[in-house]
Amino acid sequence: MTGACTRRSLLKSLGAASTLIASPALARTSWRIRGSGRGVLRLVFYTDIHASADPRRSDAVTMAAGAINAQKADLVLCGGDLIHGGFDARPDDVAARWDAYTSMARAIGAEHHAVVGNHDLVGAQPGDGSEPAPDPRLEFKRHLGVSRTFDTFDALGYRFVLLDSLRISDAPHMYDGWVSSEQREWIREVLSGTPSDQPIVVLLHMPLLTAFFAATKGATFQAQPNRVVINNTEVLGLFADHNLVLVLQGHLHVSEAVQWRGTTFLTGGAICGNWWRGSFFDTAEGFSAITLRDDRIEWEYIDYGWTAPRHEE
Ligand SMILES: [Fe+2]
Repeated sequence: MTGACTRRSLLKSLGAASTLIASPALARTSWRIRGSGRGVLRLVFYTDIHASADPRRSDAVTMAAGAINAQKADLVLCGGDLIHGGFDARPDDVAARWDAYTSMARAIGAEHHAVVGNHDLVGAQPGDGSEPAPDPRLEFKRHLGVSRTFDTFDALGYRFVLLDSLRISDAPHMYDGWVSSEQREWIREVLSGTPSDQPIVVLLHMPLLTAFFAATKGATFQAQPNRVVINNTEVLGLFADHNLVLVLQGHLHVSEAVQWRGTTFLTGGAICGNWWRGSFFDTAEGFSAITLRDDRIEWEYIDYGWTAPRHEE
């Protein structure tokens, strides 16, 4: 394929439509894409761990790491909320939660990348009324060994774009789903050096597109600003002339797929399920196994087998 391929011609060739797949009972699903043409890339996408110092949850994340390793993925991607409750805590209060998460991350054998979630913004608004942390992203960066919370890299001809989808707010809802102007400018730069047919995968915490609220609250329900990316159409518009095949998103703790104009938006369930109290809207504690092939994506949501203690259900 040449760089002259446009998004319109891609959509025509793919027969683009809008589809919602929200049934975790679908054992395995696949759909067509225009891949990189360089072979098979196996991904694991896991999100919303909400790690804590509770030993039962440490057992769960150990089980999850083992199940992730059993997939023998080439690349493992994490969608944020690595720890639980950092937003209103102070750094000293969450050290054991980071220990629980980093032990899981170290146990994962494959190349591994993560984006920041709202719970990872440590000290953004301390509950004890003390001064907010000067940089609520500092603990995330320190534990992940990264200098900033957005990045890009290539793997087997796919271009991965990792975004920070959070903006701290003084409003009662405390934070917005938001992709900053700095990142939008950076995305423009990245895409200016990206051939229009090169397949792109975006990873972020807050959903860029979801049917969750229409499905659970009613068709006219308006999602709160801290549940979705507010400026989603602006962000998606940046990719309009490119081959954005997949968006991996977290935060909602349900497993869901939405297809829109040639892009599939996968909401990745949660390692912690219903915040460690069982399943959430029929999504068990689990993660996604994704295979990118030259002509299609295969996707499966995998229950890694942990069961919430009865008294927590
Ligand atoms: Fe979240």
